[in-house]
Amino acid sequence: MRFLNKNVLVAGGAGFIGSNLVSQLVKEEANVIVLDNLFTGDLDNIDCLDQITFIKGSVEDEKLVDQLVCKVDIVFNLAVRNIIVSTKSPKLDFNVNAGGMFNILMSARKHNIERVVFSSSASIYGNPLYLPINEIDRTNILNPYAASKLTGENYCFAFYETYNLPISIVRYSNVYGIKQNPENPYCGVISRFLNDAIEEKDIHIHGDGDQTRDFTYVEDVVEATLLAAHSPKAIGEVFNVGSGRETYINDLAKIIIDTCGNHTKIVHIDRRDIDNIRRRVLNIEKIRKTLRWIPKTNLQTGIVKTYEWLSEQKNKNKHSKLSINTKTFAVAH
Ligand SMILES: NC(=O)c1ccc[n+]([C@@H]2O[C@H](COP(=O)([O-])OP(=O)(O)OC[C@H]3O[C@@H](n4cnc5c(N)ncnc54)[C@H](O)[C@@H]3O)[C@@H](O)[C@H]2O)c1
Repeated sequence: MRFLNKNVLVAGGAGFIGSNLVSQLVKEEANVIVLDNLFTGDLDNIDCLDQITFIKGSVEDEKLVDQLVCKVDIVFNLAVRNIIVSTKSPKLDFNVNAGGMFNILMSARKHNIERVVFSSSASIYGNPLYLPINEIDRTNILNPYAASKLTGENYCFAFYETYNLPISIVRYSNVYGIKQNPENPYCGVISRFLNDAIEEKDIHIHGDGDQTRDFTYVEDVVEATLLAAHSPKAIGEVFNVGSGRETYINDLAKIIIDTCGNHTKIVHIDRRDIDNIRRRVLNIEKIRKTLRWIPKTNLQTGIVKTYEWLSEQKNKNKHSKLSINTKTFAVAH
C-alpha cells in the first residue's frame, strides 16, 4: 500500500477527479483531508465521507491553507475555476487557479512537505504545431484558464528549482467517467452527450464535429496522479496524462449513441468562442517510460462504465437532480 498512514490534503477533493482520487487514497489507507469550497464540487461525490476530514473553504485563504498543509505529508491540488467561468471572470480564476497553487507552495515549503502534485491541463498547449503533443512542445495560451494553469505550473517549477521543494505536475487531457455530473454546466462532453442520449434528446455538437480530443478515463487519471505523488522519479517533472489516441467529436457522438442503443440524432450548432482548439492528442511516452503508467480503459469500455453509472444515478434521482436541460458543455478543458 503506497499511501498507508500517509497524511494527505486534497484541494478540490469534492469535484469530479478529486473525489475519485480521494476514494482511491482511502482504499490505500491514507488519512485524507479534503479542502473544497463546493463551487462545482458536491459532498455526495465523496463516497467515503465518514472516513475523511472535510473542510469547506478556499485555497485562496492563505491562513486556512497553512493550517491544513502543516498537518500533512502530501498535497494534491485539483481546486479549480474551470474554463467557462474563467473566461467570464479572469480575476477570480487567477486568484484560485494561480493564487491557490501559490498559497499551497508557500506553506509546503515552510512545512517541508514530501510532495506537492499539481493537476494541470493540456489547455496550455492551445493549438499545437505538431501531434502528438510532447511535454516540451511550445505552449499556446488561448484563454485565461490556460494562462492560470500555466502560471500554477511555473510556480511549481520555481519552488522546485529555487527551494528544492518536491513537486510533480500532471497535465491531463479531457477526462471523463463516473462522478462527472452532467448537471454541472461545465461538465465534459462525454458526460453531456451521454446524458442527452440516455434522455433521447438530440446531441448538440458545436461546429462541424471534426475537432478532435484525447479522452482519458478517470480511474487511469487517478492512477497517474498517485504515481506522480509516489515515485521519486516524478520529482521536478511534468507528465502528459492522456490516452495517446485522437478521437473526432463526430465519432464520439456515434459511439455514445451506439452505447445507449436508441434513436438520438446528432445536430450541429454554432461553434463557441472557447472551442478554439482544433485537434489534440498527447504523447504519453514520458509517463509510460518514467512511471510505467499506461491507460487501461479504452474509450468504448470507459463510455460503457460511465453510461452504467449515469443511468443508475438517473434511476436514483428520477425526479430531481439529474433531470436537466443545460445546453452548455466544455470540450476544451
Ligand atoms: N476534467 C477534465 O477534463 C480536466 C482536464 C484537464 C485538467 N483538469 C484539471 O483537473 C482538476 C480537477 O478538475 P475536475 O474536472 O475534477 O473539476 P471539478 O470542477 O469537478 O473540480 C474542481 C473542484 O475544485 C473546487 N474548487 C473550486 N474553487 C475552489 C477554491 N477556491 N478552493 C477550494 N476548492 C475549490 C470545486 O468545488 C470542485 O470540487 C482541475 O485542476 C482541472 O484544471 C481537468
